[in-house]
Amino acid sequence: MRNTQLLSQNWVFCPGFHINASLEHVQCSQQIELPHNAVDVPLNYFDETKLHQDFTYQYCLKVTQTDFSKQLVMHFEGVMCDAHVYVNGKLTKQHGDGYTPFDVHLSPWLQEGDNHITVTLSGRENPAIPPFGGMIDFLCFPGIYRDVNLTRFDEVRVKNVKVDTFNVLSKPTVEATVYLEKLADYNAPLTMKLTLVSAEGNTVASQRITNCQSDGQAIKVCFEPLTEAQLWHPDHPNLYTLQVELLGENLSDYYQCRFGLREAEFRVDGFYLNNERLQLVGVNRHQSYPYAGYAMGKRAQQLDAELAKQKLGFNLIRTSHYPQSVHFLDRCDELGLLVFEEIAGWQHVGDQAWQQKSIDNVRAMIERDWNHPSIILWGVRVNESVDSHDFYTQTNALARKLDPSRQTGGVRCIQNSEYLEDVYTMNDFILSDSHLNPNGDIELRSPQTVTGLDKTVPYLVTEYAGHMFPTKRTDCEVWQNEHVMRHLRVLNASFSNPNISGAITWCLFDYNTHRDFGSGDKICYHGVNDAFRVPKFAASVYASQMSPKHQVILNPVTYWTRGERPEAKALPLIILTNCDRVDIQIGDGVRRSFFPDKGRFPNLPHPPVVVDVTNQRDLPVGDWGNSWQDIKFTGYVDGTVCIETELAASPVPTLLDISLQTDSLNAHCGDTCHVVIKALDQKGQILPYFKDVIQISSSDNLAVIGPTSIPLEGGVASFWVRAFQQGTGEIKLKSSCFGEFSRSILVQHQQVISQQTQNEVQYG
Ligand code: GAL
Repeated sequence: MRNTQLLSQNWVFCPGFHINASLEHVQCSQQIELPHNAVDVPLNYFDETKLHQDFTYQYCLKVTQTDFSKQLVMHFEGVMCDAHVYVNGKLTKQHGDGYTPFDVHLSPWLQEGDNHITVTLSGRENPAIPPFGGMIDFLCFPGIYRDVNLTRFDEVRVKNVKVDTFNVLSKPTVEATVYLEKLADYNAPLTMKLTLVSAEGNTVASQRITNCQSDGQAIKVCFEPLTEAQLWHPDHPNLYTLQVELLGENLSDYYQCRFGLREAEFRVDGFYLNNERLQLVGVNRHQSYPYAGYAMGKRAQQLDAELAKQKLGFNLIRTSHYPQSVHFLDRCDELGLLVFEEIAGWQHVGDQAWQQKSIDNVRAMIERDWNHPSIILWGVRVNESVDSHDFYTQTNALARKLDPSRQTGGVRCIQNSEYLEDVYTMNDFILSDSHLNPNGDIELRSPQTVTGLDKTVPYLVTEYAGHMFPTKRTDCEVWQNEHVMRHLRVLNASFSNPNISGAITWCLFDYNTHRDFGSGDKICYHGVNDAFRVPKFAASVYASQMSPKHQVILNPVTYWTRGERPEAKALPLIILTNCDRVDIQIGDGVRRSFFPDKGRFPNLPHPPVVVDVTNQRDLPVGDWGNSWQDIKFTGYVDGTVCIETELAASPVPTLLDISLQTDSLNAHCGDTCHVVIKALDQKGQILPYFKDVIQISSSDNLAVIGPTSIPLEGGVASFWVRAFQQGTGEIKLKSSCFGEFSRSILVQHQQVISQQTQNEVQYG
């Protein structure tokens, strides 16, 4: 029976390559926990070449006599990059790709007692390894930045399982393909029991297969059509579990994976889920975080998916530009957030050997992730690369062979590119300043202009906005208005043509980048949220497209001041809302009703309300000469008041709002709590120009990620704390204006060894 242990503690880390040494004795070495970021860089203004170094990690594995009756396999979820694993000085594995997992079968190399498992990696952007070789607009943070675990197996293990579903709308049928792997000599017969379990934990079907071969051949098991099957859908993401039990002579193994019953297809008239057209409203995500680089654990990964789906209403996310954490994808499955996953790369295509690595990456990505119902498309081109017929014929062929159930896409930015994929996926940045570009007023090109084909093909816009209008959360109101307007315009356009399945905006968060991009401080301010996951106004463009049944949104794009905008104007006033009527009152004056601007944004599910000189009537919205008054917005849905928002004419600091993602963390597994601090006025609104510094301190079992003295910027400060030892933890905050605050977080013991039943590592 397999037994899995999370190996997050007791690693020793050191810059440079140290293959033979016991790392503890090397100068500068330090004890660390995984996930780990090899180079701490500031938030911005740093020299990114500091990442371009070599590093060594070492784990001392104590092996007892009983371990020799087992097969020990170490599993690495992600190492950036070019990992070489040595067991007692002997190279046993090399894995170039920084985004896909790999296993190391340790047993043949182990000795009784201490064994040094040494992992070297490099942040040097090796041009032989995708995505490197050219320039890339993001940073790849070196380190063992995802989980590592150790499993003790018997001689044969279930290495992987693929679950295929057929006829989900008529006669839902499940077919499992089980891949066994012989880790040591074994010749006796094997029996397998496969059980399908519903989300409620009920067994819905089971099958027993006898006389299985352990020779690595795939074993296919079909189930009878399911009765009363529950489909997976963004509104009801029902998940099933397939459990596989393997039994032999003094041998057993257990594996489980989740899957969903859904049919996903891009057609010429849009994307269909379970045979219903669903307009895709998507966002691109980079997996980096301020200060921590890539090294953030499960809860942080989950939060990003929750933010995208639950808070901002996106129904699709693109893992630009590489496979992302399984914790992130698992959460997408649970939330019903669709995913477009792609291989590592950015514009550059290398030589034959490089291309072969990229083809291998297609396999690694698909074999890791083929059971996620959230994934609807495989990205099998290097983002925005030029056509490369032979290379992309191979990536497409491999994806289709490994997973015929999903279509392929391949993101380009050139028109008339060779159509090799199933879905033509295009980054369309055509919207720009019209005085600079004669086409600037076009929000999106027509698919046929882009494809140059004489027929209509399935089509998806995979990026827009981004560098065309970088915006900081702290930028002035005029800039925020234009930012919002551009997102509204492209989104509206994406809804206008049924041939366009949807559009994926660039991007979810601001991100660290190379000197060749961004605002000179190593940040691309392209997110609808900042790098700390704090929303800009443009985030409400998307949130306001959700049904008000889910959440009522009313967010006026203004700081409501007399003199923030040029010429002391307050109009046009854009109100991002899913209400069907908004009443506005200035001070105690008249109250006037306004309605969504269906004239300008006819295709949006919820156009914004826009007040300007043409419709303000007698409402003195910022008119020069009037005394400055509070403004009150009352939002209605179907004639009922659903939300009220007030902005103060004379805001004063009233409350330091402190919100914690959780009050309970797991010890020693890279678990983090996201903390957001806002300076609010008497109406509960953020004070955008409020200046204060927050001093942070924490108990010894918590560590603040980043500096412990941070300014409020745009009225907000945010950080993460990471948990170590179990026990009660405390975060203390001190503001010169608001005083001192304390919040406690319970750090719970994390169960290190799984209870022999699950292939998933248990978190306590
Ligand atoms: C695209 C690219 C993205 C990002 C974006 C900025 O061309 O695919 O990775 O750089 O531009 O807007």
